[in-house]
Amino acid sequence: MRIGLAYDLQTHPQDARQAEFDPPATLDALCGALTELGHDPVRLGSAHELLAHPPAPGGVDLVLSIAEGVSARCREAWVPTLLDLWQVPYVGSDALALALGLDKAASKRLAKAAGLATPPWITLNAVRDLPEQIPLAFPVIVKPRYEGSGMGIDPGAVVSTMTALRARVAWLLEQMREWQRNGAVRSGELTTLLPEPVLIEEFISGGELTVLLVGNDPPRAYPAIQRAVDTASQLASHVSPKAPSLATPLALDAAVEQRARDAALAVFDALGCSDMARVDLRVDAKGAVWFLEINPLPSFDPQGTVGWMAECEGRTYAQLVGDILAAAAQRLARA
Ligand SMILES: Nc1ncnc2c1ncn2[C@@H]1O[C@H](COP(=O)(O)OP(=O)(O)OP(=O)(O)O)[C@@H](O)[C@H]1O
Ligand SMILES: [Mg+2]
Repeated sequence: MRIGLAYDLQTHPQDARQAEFDPPATLDALCGALTELGHDPVRLGSAHELLAHPPAPGGVDLVLSIAEGVSARCREAWVPTLLDLWQVPYVGSDALALALGLDKAASKRLAKAAGLATPPWITLNAVRDLPEQIPLAFPVIVKPRYEGSGMGIDPGAVVSTMTALRARVAWLLEQMREWQRNGAVRSGELTTLLPEPVLIEEFISGGELTVLLVGNDPPRAYPAIQRAVDTASQLASHVSPKAPSLATPLALDAAVEQRARDAALAVFDALGCSDMARVDLRVDAKGAVWFLEINPLPSFDPQGTVGWMAECEGRTYAQLVGDILAAAAQRLARA
């Protein structure tokens, strides 16, 4: 098959605005995997590039999009929206599931409605909207409502007093305005500047699991991977990179792991995801599993979850990519 690849290329790794973009090495790894699987990869680029150069009819058989887009909570949905418009089949979730997954408050609401535990939360747009007292138990964590890749999250995001909370919310709102200002102009296009809300949620101490899902009706839940956490901040190592001491605090027994997989499957279903997703969960001292977020567009970094999972399963990165393509092909054949 001729498989189109849609992506946002990370050209400046130190630039926070490109934190979610993919480095050339990930693109090369994906193209290598597709070639190894006998396909012909076609680099299509970003949503803006696709819009400027739509694929010719029959030019690609299928598109694999890892394009994150910039600014606004529907940015990950840009490529699937264009592909739906042009009736080009693609791998992965549709626009709605991608937008819901990026919006942490929306996905938490759906997870809660599906009966899952998720840390109690509030969202707000401005420091002045912060009440005298919040209806949450401290400590809480302050996060952007629709970002990923740990943007805006570091040990300072976890606060235990109203004073510290007010200061962190003010800092994060300003930080997000800065990202928006700088990210607003791209490929000659001006995107609308939308205020991005802050999500404040109760902090769950303990361990952390991530579950990769591949397939449909239902997908296969891979074994839960325990992430190392910084022993001081208790944040996962990817958001506390300078941590002097890391630990994997969970006694990962079969019951906890099964709860994590069941929770991941339930959220995948609640959002209407397709083909793949990665679900991040915390596990408290009692072994209860708490839903944090779902990534319907997981990273294809060979050093990331997809690469680890393949290694844990004794398979190659290319074989796992092949499983995801097969899931999409099966789903599309049934449609
Ligand atoms: N409520 C919480 N309780 C405990 N830890 C949390 C909580 N929320 C976030 N964290 C920590 O912060 C990390 C990043 O949070 P989250 O997954 O919500 O953000 P993200 O930017 O979408 O991350 P990524 O895309 O890198 O997984 C988590 O992996 C976890 O270590
Ligand atoms: Mg996460």
